[in-house]
Amino acid sequence: KARTVLLATEKAFAADAVSKIEAVTSAAGYKLVRLENYKSKDDLLKAVADADAMIIRSDKVDQAVLDKAAKLKIVVRAGAGYDNIDLKATEGKGVVSMNTPGQNANAVAELVFGMMITSARNNYDGTSGFELVNRSIAFYGFGAVARAVHKLAQGFGMKSFAYDPYIPAEKIAEMGATPVATVAGLFEHQYVSLHVPLTAETKASINKALLMKMPKGGTLINTARCEVVHEADMVEVFKARQDFCYLCDVAPDDKAAKEAMTAAVGDKFGKRLIFTAKKMGAQTLEANDNCGVAAANQIVAFFEKGETRFALKA
Ligand code: 3PG
Repeated sequence: KARTVLLATEKAFAADAVSKIEAVTSAAGYKLVRLENYKSKDDLLKAVADADAMIIRSDKVDQAVLDKAAKLKIVVRAGAGYDNIDLKATEGKGVVSMNTPGQNANAVAELVFGMMITSARNNYDGTSGFELVNRSIAFYGFGAVARAVHKLAQGFGMKSFAYDPYIPAEKIAEMGATPVATVAGLFEHQYVSLHVPLTAETKASINKALLMKMPKGGTLINTARCEVVHEADMVEVFKARQDFCYLCDVAPDDKAAKEAMTAAVGDKFGKRLIFTAKKMGAQTLEANDNCGVAAANQIVAFFEKGETRFALKA
């Protein structure tokens, strides 16, 4: 019987990407089942019963999903961050999990610059803003996305700094950024851009003490995960500093936290506080194509050749 690949995307890919994914699965003789824009977890629980493989985005794969997934062998997160997969649960069931690192990096990097320019030009309200040239940007985490932002920053004539506990300082320097020895050291620069995964260590780690250290016009850019920021502290920082900006592609899920931040900043023109409508760093045609096709190819390579290069560990 042909293998079934379930494309379970609560936030759908562009139609073109879905056609490309289907071209890969059908060339391998697999059947692609589409569960896009679904509204309830029950829909996912029903659909997963027949799946040999799953392609997901930020969709949650937890014990409840795995309990219904009798045939599942592999789940591929079409994207970078995999905090939405319960890796202990997948490992417990012998299901292989993978991500597609780097595939959406450029899309996120372009969004970072879009938000920086919107903020620097006062959300185009007609008043004088400032230029990015000669300003400093410091990266917390220097993986594929941060490096893509750094590359654009070089083009803008900005100075880059970076801290990454897993990358040696010499390697950071080789890539043209100045290594920073501590997380706190990053907050001496005007822009700090977060590119760390959500882990026990990073959760709520961006707090008032760090944010209050930032120089005048200090701007935090968050295209990582909302949970990395200490939300109650962020409200306090907005109240304490009229110059502080938060450019965020990952607004808090918690409506009250979002409203508290918006009220604290009182930002009528949307230049000090930017929230996208839905996480959209990876919402481009190209990123959808890259991530979706990579995920489909990884599934085929896994079944046909036992390839596990991008397998994740709990
Ligand atoms: C990622 O980790 O790759 C990004 O957060 C993209 O997430 P999305 O697929 O839900 O847009």
